[in-house]
Amino acid sequence: MTQDEMKKAAGWAALEYVKKGTIVGVGTGSTVNHFIDALETRKEEIKGAVSSSIASTERLEQLGIKVFDANEVSSLDIYVDGADEINADYDMIKGGGAALTREKIVAAIAKTFVCIVDDTKQVDVLGQFPLPVEVIPMARSYIGRELVKLGGDPVYRQGVVTDNGNIILDVYNMQITNPKEMEDKINALPGVVTVGLFAHRGADVLLVGAPDGVKKFEK
Ligand code: A5P
Repeated sequence: MTQDEMKKAAGWAALEYVKKGTIVGVGTGSTVNHFIDALETRKEEIKGAVSSSIASTERLEQLGIKVFDANEVSSLDIYVDGADEINADYDMIKGGGAALTREKIVAAIAKTFVCIVDDTKQVDVLGQFPLPVEVIPMARSYIGRELVKLGGDPVYRQGVVTDNGNIILDVYNMQITNPKEMEDKINALPGVVTVGLFAHRGADVLLVGAPDGVKKFEK
């Protein structure tokens, strides 16, 4: 089984959590793209979606799924999204696709976070994948220096501008043994918009695509 087949299996398995008559929170990335394809088969039963990126909005709309602005909804039943890494407590690194800020907003609105990954994303300690941080452009150098003080090696993601007009610093060589504490420290730096650590709002349900099928875990 290829990695993409495992992503597809996890994406389609998330359909089980979609309830009739609801608006579904939709993440971003190659795994979520499979979920969006699956969601199309249920589009007559749902009201629509709230999307975490321009890319996902375009894909949803192409398939005829109505996309609501996040300001139009007071709560969402579920938010379905992938991750770059996830640990045993369901804390995640996200933002490989640069959509971390909108992902965090939509996840915060949702009651249940359904994380869909292939089994290469499961780790003991977060940080092997470089940690994305969305930063206001004028704060880039300052934040870079502060991230070095926190033990990381920040690298400017060349040529990438987020959907919100900001830049991304990818922080290498972090061993994130206390994800909540690290999330708080980086979020507290002036100029940081969002850190791609999802520890205060981790996943509630984990669907892992593996060679022998989809494994389901619930908190
Ligand atoms: C997007 O910014 C990310 O948070 C994605 O959810 C994450 O990078 C997973 O992407 P894939 O599903 O493409 O692996």
